[in-house]
Formats: sequence, structure tokens, C-alpha cells
Amino acid sequence: MCGIVGYTGKKQAAPILLEGLSKLEYRGYDSAGVAVRNNKGKHEIVKTNGKLSVLSDKLKKGKALKGTCGIGHTRWATHGMPSEVNAHPHSNDDQTIVAVHNGIIENYVELKEKLTSKGYTFYSETDTEIATKLVDYYYKKWKSPLEAMVSFTLRVRGSYAIAVMFEDYPEEIYIARKDSPLIVGVADEGSFVASDVPAILKYTRNVYYVDNMEIARIEKGKATFYNVDRKVIEKQPVKIDWDADAAEKGGYKYYMLKEIREQPRAVTDTLNSLIKDGKIDLSEAGLSDEKLSSFKRIRIAACGSAYHVGMVAKYVIEDLARIPVDVDVASEFRYRSPVYGENELVVVISQSGETADSLEALRGAKAAGVATLAIVNVLGSAIAREADNVIYTKAGPEISVATTKAYSAQLIVSYALAVQLALINGKIDEDRYAQLIDEMLALPASMEKILSDDEWLKWFASKIANKKDVYFIGRGIDYAICLEGSLKLKEISYIHSDAYAAGELKHGHISLIEEGTLVIGLITQMRLAEKAVSNLSEVKTRGAQIMSVTLEGNYSLQEHSEFTFYVPKTEAYFTTSLAVIPLQLLSYYVCVAKGLDVDMPRNLAKCVSVE
Ligand code: BG6
Repeated sequence: MCGIVGYTGKKQAAPILLEGLSKLEYRGYDSAGVAVRNNKGKHEIVKTNGKLSVLSDKLKKGKALKGTCGIGHTRWATHGMPSEVNAHPHSNDDQTIVAVHNGIIENYVELKEKLTSKGYTFYSETDTEIATKLVDYYYKKWKSPLEAMVSFTLRVRGSYAIAVMFEDYPEEIYIARKDSPLIVGVADEGSFVASDVPAILKYTRNVYYVDNMEIARIEKGKATFYNVDRKVIEKQPVKIDWDADAAEKGGYKYYMLKEIREQPRAVTDTLNSLIKDGKIDLSEAGLSDEKLSSFKRIRIAACGSAYHVGMVAKYVIEDLARIPVDVDVASEFRYRSPVYGENELVVVISQSGETADSLEALRGAKAAGVATLAIVNVLGSAIAREADNVIYTKAGPEISVATTKAYSAQLIVSYALAVQLALINGKIDEDRYAQLIDEMLALPASMEKILSDDEWLKWFASKIANKKDVYFIGRGIDYAICLEGSLKLKEISYIHSDAYAAGELKHGHISLIEEGTLVIGLITQMRLAEKAVSNLSEVKTRGAQIMSVTLEGNYSLQEHSEFTFYVPKTEAYFTTSLAVIPLQLLSYYVCVAKGLDVDMPRNLAKCVSVE
């Protein structure tokens, strides 16, 4: 996510902004910038592409910019490639208003049209420039920063944490917040605003958390909070007892747990980028319905968890859209000699967009003249740039090596692709289309429900932490979920684990079952449940300890399982998004119980961009 820092006080602002931004680098970014009100009362803006060190060098560590009030930003690109033009701060044409923003303005197209009709010109590809000029529009209308911020808050849809300086109001910073974090600190050295605690922990441990639809005026030595009715709100500061390192994880001990819990947000943001007015709209990816309907076969290439998304996508697309789908690990795909037919599409799924095997798989498909689509989390990454079309997941930067929120966001894109293909291929009618979309939109709430109920998982994790072998079994989509659950467990807890198609056990794998072997059964595909339950019985009679993951209401597993985790009911196509969460949490808690480094498991890297 982007990082925001603001300061107004008696000290020089630029060095404080740079230092604050450096404490937010962990959030992931690709460009940075600051704006400071100089000694002539004018705003000076300096922005650079790349790492903070580039900006710091340009600013001579802040000495090149004089002034005691400023705002700074590290940008994680969501709209518009990483570039100096797209970097924040953005401003109106005469720089009398400058702003930084973290979040996604969903109605940016409508707002841009409105402002263009009012004579505004746009120079960047960002939603932030539109937000900044919207503030300018309302300031010109109301001649009041507070009124401008109130109107902005009422007019914008989406998520935002925005900090604004108005030339007519020296040494003041105005902020507004909805769904993207923003905090305020008032210390002896001055007043601060930031996206997260680490940026200001050096100056104060008393922090005001800005709530949704709140606005504040930040001045030297004080902060005044308002609601959208312009009523002053009395807020109590929260005492931060985290150490600096913990604070970078928002109070979480590890990024992985933070990112597991960010999944509803990642899914919501990804859904909002794909669904407009109740319809799936992939036009931003260059995939018109006409183009989509031309594809007669899909091949998916990916690595690790992204490959497991491809396995789910195969089941869902084939069943819903009746299009043949092949899935390969990219390291195999790139060395195979696929026999391509007419009208095929190769889909490469990658969080980083830099995985060497996946990139080469993409290049091989392009060399063969096949249409390519990338599903990527990092804007402007190699795979995104080289694919014919790209759909971005909106998971925000993912730090922990074991992917969770990016995996969940990739699933959403896969579902949307399957549902849209099914509609345009005439396999579902409008009612079924609307029903499937409603079910997708309901997933974040179900995910939140699961996340709020992890005490049992923590208990069970402590019981199984010393297991030597853990096997996951399931049928259909449940098998694809098993693949991801098994990878999560082995990659961070180092316990030997594997996933088997449940129907395959009798052809060899069942010889591995001994007294006490843990077998985790996934049973969310109810049409296959009876068969899957009998597979669990087979291993139980041979001494296996059973854990099950199934849907609320399916209590047939109680007698087989020592521990059963229930997830809310949803479309059979979408159960992965729910059933994977207890498996992620179980792996996390086992790893913590073993005292291992969750975020940096041995031998692994977050992105394998070399072969
Ligand atoms: C591995 C990561 O190195 O690469 C996995 O540890 C990831 O989490 C896999 O699924 C593929 O990476 P990417 O960036 O192409 O999705």
C-alpha cells in the first residue's frame, strides 16, 4: 500500500518526511515524492521514480527543500504505471493545492469527466490527480478548506487516506479518511499525520486513529477532528506499546497473519475493480466480450500457489463456461512443446509478475503467436508489460514469502473470468449470472466471519505441531484446495506434507497411512461428499487422525473427525476462497508453535526472478 507522511511544526519538514517515509518502505512502493511550503509561502514539489534513496539524493537528504510544513508519499501503483509523472504529491495547475493519497477512487472516471467539463486538464494516469483537482474544484466553490474536504468526502466513492495543503492556509494540513488507514500524532516537535505508526513512533506514542468519514485540520501543536456535518469530534489518543519493528506490521508479529487478515479487503478491492454496476467488466484489461468469446481453449501456466489458483480455475471455467482448460507449472510448460490450435488463450498467473519460469512461459506462448493474458499483482512488472492483456489483482504489496491475500485475489479474477465466459458463451442466463456475482460479492463478509473464529485452529495447531507427516485429501475443487493447504503447511513449518486426489489414495498413497498419521479432508463439494467421506473412512480405519474442513450444516463428518472446521456456505465454485483460510491459519499457528520465522521460511524467496 502507499505510504503517507505529513508534518507541521518548528523543524525543517523535508528531512522528517524522508525519515518517516523510510519507516513505511515495508509497505511496498515504486516511486516517492514530497511537497513542502517554502519560505516564500509557495509549495515546492519533488518526485522521483524508484526507491526513496533516489528522492533523498535529489533532496540532499532534505536539505534542498526549506520549510516547516510538508507532505510526503511512497506510491504503490494501482492506477497508472510507476513513473515520476504518476508519483505523488499531485496538485492543481498553480500548485496552490497539493495532495497525497492512499487508496482506490472507484468513481474516478465519472469525476474526471465532470472536472474535464469544468475545464480541468490531467497530466497523469492516476486517480489521485483527479481527487486533488476535485478538492481544488470544491475549494474554489466554497473558499474553505474544511468545506472542500467535506464535499470531497461526500462525493468520492472508494477508499482513501488523503492529506492536502492549501497555500491560503499556511502551516496547516487537512486530511480525510475512508477505509485506508490514517493516524495523527501531536508532539513537542510538531504535529504529524501518517499511514501507519512506524512513521511517527520516534516523536510520539500517543496516536489518534482517524475513523471513516472523518476530517481533520492539523496545525502546530494541535489537531482538530470533524465529522462530515462539520461538528468537532473529541477523540482520545491511543497509547502505542509496540516496538518499532512490530509497528511496521501494524501490531502483528508477522506479515503473514496481517496479510491473511487483509484478504477480505484484497478481495473487495479486486471485486470492485472487476464488477461495475452489477456486471463483470474486463474491458480495462482489453478483454471485450467479443474477444473473450473467440477463445476456444485456455492454457494456464504459473508457479507455486499461483499454479494452485490455476487448478481451481480449471474446474470452475470448464464446468461453468464449458471451455477446455489445461494447467501446467510454468517450469514444465516452458519446456513442453504445446500443440496449439486456433483461438487459444494462454493465461499466466503471478503475484510478483517477475517469476522467471512464468515470464518464459509467457514469452514462449507469444513466440507461438498465441494470445496471452496475465493476472498480476504488481503494476508494470515484466509479465504485466509483456502480456497482450493484463488483469491486475488489488491485493496491495504482499511481504510474507507464503502468499495468502494475492492468492485470494487471483481466485477472484479467475471466478470473474469463468462467469463472464459462461455468460457470453450462453452457458448461463442473466439470472444465474447475477446470482453468481452476488455470491462473489458476499465472499468478503464470509471471510471476515472465518477470520474472527480462529481460536480452535490455534488449539489444534499446538496439538499437531510435532507431526512428521500431514496429508490433505479432496476431490474436484477440494483437491485444488488441498494442494494450496499442503504447500502452506510445508513451506513455513517444514513438516512433510502432500495433497492427494482422494480417489487416488487406493492406487498407492494409502500405504503411507500409519497410526496417528494426520489426514486433513476437504469436503466442500457436496456432490462429491459421499465419495470423499468414504475415503476418509478408509484412512481412519488404518489409524489416521482426521481433521475436516466442510460447509456449515454438513455435520456428517463429526464421527470421523477429531476436529472439524466449518466455513459458511457459498457457491460450490467459490468455496476455495473460504476453505483455504483455516488452512492458512493452521499453517501459521503451527509455524509459530514451532518457533520458526513465519515470514522468511528457509530456502525460499518471495519472488524467484532468476532460474
Ligand atoms: C514462490 C513464492 O517463490 O513463487 C510463492 O514463495 C509463489 O508464494 C510462487 O506462489 C509464484 O510466485 P509469483 O510471484 O509468480 O506468484
